[in-house]
Amino acid sequence: MSTDAQNVLDYHGSNAIFLVWKFKEGVAINDAFANICALVINLNNSAAIRFPDGGASCVMGIGHDAWLRLQLRRPLPRELAVFEPVSGKKHQAVSTPGDLHFHIRGNEKSICYDMTNALSALLQPVADCLEEVHGFRYWDGRSILGFVDGTENPQGEKRAFFGLIGDEDPAYKGGSYLFVQKYIHDLKAFNALPLHDQENVFGRSKQNDIEMSDDIKPSNSHSALANVGDDLKIVRDNLPFGNMSTNEMGTYFIAYASTFSTVKKMLDKMFIGSPEGNYDRLLDFSTPKTGTLFFVPTLSFLENPDAGDTPAEVTAQAPVETTDKSAGSLHIGNLKNETDHE
Ligand code: HEM
Repeated sequence: MSTDAQNVLDYHGSNAIFLVWKFKEGVAINDAFANICALVINLNNSAAIRFPDGGASCVMGIGHDAWLRLQLRRPLPRELAVFEPVSGKKHQAVSTPGDLHFHIRGNEKSICYDMTNALSALLQPVADCLEEVHGFRYWDGRSILGFVDGTENPQGEKRAFFGLIGDEDPAYKGGSYLFVQKYIHDLKAFNALPLHDQENVFGRSKQNDIEMSDDIKPSNSHSALANVGDDLKIVRDNLPFGNMSTNEMGTYFIAYASTFSTVKKMLDKMFIGSPEGNYDRLLDFSTPKTGTLFFVPTLSFLENPDAGDTPAEVTAQAPVETTDKSAGSLHIGNLKNETDHE
């Protein structure tokens, strides 16, 4: 693992707070952004010293529009763009705004609260908080629907391979694409299904979390459609949340990936279906209320966010792979020919 990466690869602990902020119009934001970058580094260093076993960290992602407004480095990370909605015949993955995303983990709620509070003090004069979701570990790592969530995630060294940009984009090596969606579940309808039908929604057994064999797994089950191949994985860090006063029980879906195109393939199969129309049955009980793509730069980037253009030698020399790690060949290209993706 690149030691320069933000803590995107950690396993989720017991609690997390997810925050989406949007910069206000007509205010200067660059100084505040530099201070926020410094604070993120400070919060992580401090948590590591104070609570070495506390699973506490804060990861910051930056959205496309914020990247442009802040005049951060060019060319942009090659897949950083405003998320385009994915529309199937019945369900839609919506696109919602967001300039900065914070993923704050901690086994103790207190550290999550303190980090959130410190960040908010800097953010409030220049930005509005659009989303705040408090996720928690539900029993033995289950989603609020009762099924264990995360089993097929990459483990060990594979987490860095699938979660962090490698040599294919040298200017942003160690960075990661972050895609988030806040889902609300129709728990009443899901819980009314007989156990066998619930298991068919996921393609796994509920109690023991065992995957169905291919001959009996329904083709519209979540595990059939979200799986886009053994060489195309993402690092998922979902947590459930629940609020009785608003009757909102949900899943905060959060994925870190070396390529956004992998996440997009999964969304296409889930929402449009494979073949078209054979969409993910999980969506009949799960509605995404948000959907935003961010880029998580390295710690060195946060230390020096105003560094300006990417060094010429990086853009000029580097032969690169395409973003599709599944391809049999590496599809050598050259960053010189890349555009700014604006
Ligand atoms: C409604 C929100 C979601 C819930 C509650 C959910 C829950 C689950 C559960 C319980 C599993 C099976 C165990 C596991 O391997 O983790 C799973 C697998 C998986 N999910 Fe989701 N998921 C959600 C949304 C998504 C989305 C939006 C994506 C991708 C964009 C995704 C990608 C995957 C992948 C890649 C797997 C592993 C499939 C395999 O290889 O078997 N999930 N999910």
